[in-house]
Amino acid sequence: MSHGPSPAQQPHDPDGVFPVSPLLIIPSAVGGFSIYLRLDGNLILYARKGERFTDRHRTRLHELGVRRLFVKSEERGGYENYLQEHLGSILDDESIPLSGRVQVWYEATLGLVRDVFEHKLPRPLGARRFEKVRCLVRTTLDLLSRQEAVREMARFLTRGFSVYSHGIGTMVLTACVLQGCEDVDDELLEACAMGALLHDIGKTRLPREVAQKNLEALSAAELELYRSHPALGVAMCSGVSLPPAALHCMLMHHERVNGSGYPGGAQASDIPRHVAVLSVCDMYDNYTRAGAYGPALSPFEALSRLQCARGLYDTDAIKRLILVLADARVVEAGGEPAGESAAEPSEKREGSAPGGR
Ligand SMILES: [Fe+2]
Ligand SMILES: [Fe+2]
Repeated sequence: MSHGPSPAQQPHDPDGVFPVSPLLIIPSAVGGFSIYLRLDGNLILYARKGERFTDRHRTRLHELGVRRLFVKSEERGGYENYLQEHLGSILDDESIPLSGRVQVWYEATLGLVRDVFEHKLPRPLGARRFEKVRCLVRTTLDLLSRQEAVREMARFLTRGFSVYSHGIGTMVLTACVLQGCEDVDDELLEACAMGALLHDIGKTRLPREVAQKNLEALSAAELELYRSHPALGVAMCSGVSLPPAALHCMLMHHERVNGSGYPGGAQASDIPRHVAVLSVCDMYDNYTRAGAYGPALSPFEALSRLQCARGLYDTDAIKRLILVLADARVVEAGGEPAGESAAEPSEKREGSAPGGR
């Protein structure tokens, strides 16, 4: 099965399009993007932006044996909104064979991974790293689908697409950092990738007003509820046989090296290194996207904030993340991130919220 070239291998597409699966065409749904077929090298408009899809659209594609549709890159935003709205229901649609549903899920997830590589960093990380992460995504999704976790995943995507996107961002960074650690074998890497993807799944069980509120605005009772999400996540996955390292990632990602984290208040020596790496990548991803942690910071600001939150994060894990991001020219983009000798930082968010809230 071909999963398409990695970013660095991506040939220039003169049409400026990207491929999508025909299974994404759901009768009665409206696409905020135009859909094209490619016949003899030419793009043919199949459904216009804003057009309501019908059974006929889907049947015709099946009759023609079409395996790939195309969307123009400039309409990626509309396509992502469509995914956000419909991916969960596609995954839950038992009239589509499981293998087809998993393929759509895989392609959509890989699209998010590609987006992190190509757009969330000033320069794409190399093809080798992308290839490794692509394999990790495939392994993770295959394992979850084999264990009949597809229904749980459908709920995850329906209720928490932004949590899922954050899981992808965290997974990409965590995998890239751990790949550079000498004593991390493939088995541990796969478990951590899985744990990173699912680490916040427990948030989808929180009341919406708690899960989506700015953390600074949570009441004491709401904060306590919010802090139950690592344990909730582990409980949600109890029917799936996840490796212990994946469960550690989910349960411990808000533990902090000075013991101020939750749920256990673990000390540095009790926090496995792969969890310490995940925690740093988690917070970096949180800081660089708008959400409960406030407006999105630049990569440089996010790194500075992590470096300045003394005592909360493993310094080796931060250094390793900086090395990965330096490869992506984040450091050059903003100058050298502030070191420990820099001016006293504003630790308002971290300082007032042990464990990163
Ligand atoms: Fe979390
Ligand atoms: Fe997170």
